[in-house]
Amino acid sequence: MSEPKQQPTSAITAAERERLLDAARAALPRAYAPYSRFHVGCAVLTQAGHTYVGCNVENASYGLTICAERAAICAAVAAEGERMKLAALAVLNSAGMSCAPCGACRQVIFEFGPRALVMYQGNDGIEAALAAELLPSGFTLL
Ligand code: THU
Repeated sequence: MSEPKQQPTSAITAAERERLLDAARAALPRAYAPYSRFHVGCAVLTQAGHTYVGCNVENASYGLTICAERAAICAAVAAEGERMKLAALAVLNSAGMSCAPCGACRQVIFEFGPRALVMYQGNDGIEAALAAELLPSGFTLL
């Protein structure tokens, strides 16, 4: 697995990384993706130590589609409230394709954890980067 150039907020152990990737993989079959057939699963680890998952949810009005990353983050906020902070996030797809989070998801990840460790499928296995490395100069109002 590639390493981020900086250290994440709290060091994520190899076991935690594997557990998060497994949780993302387990969410894949629940994706609602009848249009793209591209199933995506995501798992987030919060700084409180809890894990939440999400999958992509598509819509006949294509632009209303919700990515797996944002679905998982919404689940985490719904469970922990406004103080929820991300420690790490893992996202996988059923096609085994290289797939880093989209720009919209990068901004949402950044909101809750600029130094969160983000793991995703790269061209050559799992890659990892900090949220702020994936989104330099992310927008913030807080
Ligand atoms: N998708 C995600 O869920 N996450 C990503 O990081 C990239 C794209 C979904 C959205 C849509 O349902 C499908 O993948 C194809 O774009």
